[in-house]
Amino acid sequence: MNLPAMQGLNLNAPAYVKNARLIAWVADMVALCKPDKVYWCDGSDEEYDRLARQLVDAGTFRKLDPVKRPNSFLACSDPGDVARVEDRTFICSKKKEDAGPTNNWTDPDEMRATLQPLFDGSMRGRTMYVVPFSMGPLGSPIAHIGIELSDSAYVAVNMKIMTRMGKAVYDVLGVNGEFVPCIHTVGAPLQPGEKSSSWPCNKTKYIVHYPETREIWSFGSGYGGNALLGKKCFALRIASGMGRAAAGGASGSPGWLAEHMLILGVTTPEGRKYHVAAAFPSACGKTNFAMLIPPKGFDGWKVTTIGDDIAWIKPGADGKLYAINPEAGYFGVAPGTNTETNPNCMASLDKNVIFTNVALTEDGDVWWEGMGPAPAHAIDWQGKDWTPQIAKETGAKAAHANARFTVAAINNPALDPAWDDPKGVAIDAFIFGGRRSTTVPLVTEARNWVEGVYMAATMGSETTAAIVGEVGVVRRDPFAMLPFTGYNMSDYFQHWLDLGRKLSGSGASLPKIFTTNWFRKGDDGKFVWPGYGENMRVLKWMIDRIEGKVQGTEHVFGVGPAYSEVSWTGLDFTPEQFKTVTSIDKAAWQKEMQLHTELFKQLEYHLPRELAETKSRIEERLAA
Ligand code: OXD
Ligand code: MN
Repeated sequence: MNLPAMQGLNLNAPAYVKNARLIAWVADMVALCKPDKVYWCDGSDEEYDRLARQLVDAGTFRKLDPVKRPNSFLACSDPGDVARVEDRTFICSKKKEDAGPTNNWTDPDEMRATLQPLFDGSMRGRTMYVVPFSMGPLGSPIAHIGIELSDSAYVAVNMKIMTRMGKAVYDVLGVNGEFVPCIHTVGAPLQPGEKSSSWPCNKTKYIVHYPETREIWSFGSGYGGNALLGKKCFALRIASGMGRAAAGGASGSPGWLAEHMLILGVTTPEGRKYHVAAAFPSACGKTNFAMLIPPKGFDGWKVTTIGDDIAWIKPGADGKLYAINPEAGYFGVAPGTNTETNPNCMASLDKNVIFTNVALTEDGDVWWEGMGPAPAHAIDWQGKDWTPQIAKETGAKAAHANARFTVAAINNPALDPAWDDPKGVAIDAFIFGGRRSTTVPLVTEARNWVEGVYMAATMGSETTAAIVGEVGVVRRDPFAMLPFTGYNMSDYFQHWLDLGRKLSGSGASLPKIFTTNWFRKGDDGKFVWPGYGENMRVLKWMIDRIEGKVQGTEHVFGVGPAYSEVSWTGLDFTPEQFKTVTSIDKAAWQKEMQLHTELFKQLEYHLPRELAETKSRIEERLAA
């Protein structure tokens, strides 16, 4: 399409881009950000290779050894740009109460006035990449389209791995299809002749969402969820609001859900297949669980991955909940990943990977803490010499604790054949899991949907390095969605309750809901539950509950397993150890309930009555 030159710059939109709203928006953003060039990504492999070469030339990428890690790169970020910035993340709905007390809110007009001068000229000296992407299989009734404009080639290549990115998106978009506009700048314009740093970014950061107009504006960071806008910004914050807005209407539609959940398939030795969607806070082992290899003694059991981080879930005509993984790749935490904790993940990382903030070894490969034996010498993520001795003396880490890999789902040897099925997979169970050293038992089944929503709503978890800030502090993380629910949290709870009521009212049987905690510690401060592949034992108990094979034992807030109901073949785990991870300490729970009270006080506005009632019932049982 030939557009009039704008400020001496032709948009050069390819002829296959026919969406008038898109072209007008790109023109507006070009006028605002004033890039030197506009480049329309086609998503081809040739393009990926070309951009990767440019990133190598710019010093952002380092090509890894072509034999040890074929077609793989290492990027090291600015030390001030290493994780999601929750305190700089805003939900700018018209009304403050629609963002709710768990989100940072600013009036949208005020925010636009703040952002305008920051974006003005922000891409000077750089190229604006137009990145068309589909969240979900192209054309799936559950999928949606986004277009990201970014001045970062690192973002463009990561988006190629993380989403269905490229030309084919325009066929689905057509002339007047809908898309979510996502504008991203690293906020580091260049003076004429000035050379860019290898990781341009800005000390000032804004990750802004306008839920009513469904726009994303991101300024100042090039890292992860701050910059790859399809992920947390679109697939969770904007999409959660879209799913709720779809509810109601003349047809009484239940709407849909955008959740911080992995999706896995589990096949029994008899060949029966179930699908489980599991929510855990950031860096709590979602990728490990999604790629789990059943341990010894589980012959014939198989776990396959549909997704490792996000699920979009929609009721089908049969009343079942169907889930897709809106992403096409994994942006996983590297430290702690090894051939024991996650062999499938390590196999996925053999080739075609972008590593960010891990260490570089002398033989041109990568290393991170917890990967295996330390190299005698490496260059750490900040470009400094690193040796085990230096680490001992100074505590310096070779890789940043939130170092990541970006890899295509198709690299995963345990990929489920239905991972790309536009219909999605029917969910049989939800799991909500926090990271708690105390109090919360290994696994609990909710007796009904409302009790399950209560468990998920009141979930607490210790913070991790995925977020800038203090690590290890317990905070309430409802549904593992605290940083990702794009609207009022109490309204979000209500949406879950309403959806359950509508579906069961129409005769559908709802998925079971479980909570888990793999992270309880013993008196010695060590984890008691071995975790990783051994989590299969818990998963099997859940399947046995679905199949009605085991009874469980009722306690104050749900149903837990008896020692004899869990398969222990191949693992030496005593009844005493089992007690340590499953016991319910009344005094600890009374304290825990005070934290639920504080949460409910914070979320008082629109807090669903059913949740307050469920809480009272648990308190009565605890007092009895
Ligand atoms: C992620 C996160 O990157 O949750 O998935 O922080
Ligand atoms: Mn996540």
